[in-house]
Amino acid sequence: MKTKVLVTGSRGQLGSDLIRGLSSRYDVSGIDIEDVDITDSSSVRDVIISYNPRVVIHAAAYTDVDGCESNTGLAMAVNADGTRNIAEVCRDIGTRMIYYSTDYVFDGEKRSAYVESDSPNPQTVYGRSKLEGERALAATMDNYVILRLAWLYGEGGRNFVRTMIKLGYNQQRAMQREEIITPLKVVDDQVGNPTWTVEVVRQTLAVMENNLTGVVHCSSEGETSWYGFAQAIFECLGMKVQIRPCKSDEFPRPAHRPKMSSLANNSLVQEGLNCMCHWKEALEAFLQGNKEKLMP
Ligand SMILES: NC(=O)c1ccc[n+]([C@@H]2O[C@H](COP(=O)([O-])OP(=O)(O)OC[C@H]3O[C@@H](n4cnc5c(N)ncnc54)[C@H](OP(=O)(O)O)[C@@H]3O)[C@@H](O)[C@H]2O)c1
Repeated sequence: MKTKVLVTGSRGQLGSDLIRGLSSRYDVSGIDIEDVDITDSSSVRDVIISYNPRVVIHAAAYTDVDGCESNTGLAMAVNADGTRNIAEVCRDIGTRMIYYSTDYVFDGEKRSAYVESDSPNPQTVYGRSKLEGERALAATMDNYVILRLAWLYGEGGRNFVRTMIKLGYNQQRAMQREEIITPLKVVDDQVGNPTWTVEVVRQTLAVMENNLTGVVHCSSEGETSWYGFAQAIFECLGMKVQIRPCKSDEFPRPAHRPKMSSLANNSLVQEGLNCMCHWKEALEAFLQGNKEKLMP
């Protein structure tokens, strides 16, 4: 009999790939906000108990980083209290829990990639709410893993890859119409690890099938800036797009963006479990497999 796994946020960018990636090996079910709002503790209890999973993979979150700045209450309710609600049920029924957290728990001021032992110091409401989620989980139960991710993209949802392709495509159309082109400006003073959801699914499986616990960094190998990431997207797709680097202060946003977002997968490496590949290799595979779907 296959092991029962329950995925929260199953219609989200990562959740939908988790459902696809786990279904051949696990008896996997998914829930999203239409099924249960994770801020409602009694509904969360009823739903998890009715599925009775061996593992809950918690990918539901309020992920609008700028929106969180003006909706602190909602951010805390979903990302912190919602995580606690799930953890309390998992603890009570002896279920293992995997929670996804973020590079935003750090302040971004370090000169090199963050390791698991670095002290969090979030600068945004989103980062604080996700860190509160980590702490709520750790205070509630023992059998958990916190996978910190960064710069996620995938087939579903809004993400940087989709945005760049759309902007690049619009510029190419304007060129064909012989209009005056403004080069696309992309920030080059923020550094991170672009990470494909499918890679995270593969790594989650490896973590789930081994007895890893605690905080674990999980992002692609290698790092780049948003500008470098955009260049690689256009290069992979053979798109000729005029693009130029700029600084973050040219794009003021409600939420502060960390300058350093890179995460080093030290725990995964130490445990011999790191299966994340280089970000460029993953990007090429993603674009090759999804080219038609991604074109506007
Ligand atoms: N995206 C990134 O770059 C990134 C980076 C680091 C870490 N992470 C973490 O990775 C995980 C997955 O991210 P993602 O990009 O896949 O997020 P996503 O696409 O926004 O998916 C999250 C899902 O959770 C649902 N949800 C929101 N509030 C809920 C509630 N109260 N009850 C139940 N479900 C709710 C959302 O529904 P609606 O769409 O209807 O709101 C959505 O379907 C999250 O924990 C996120 O914090 C993401």
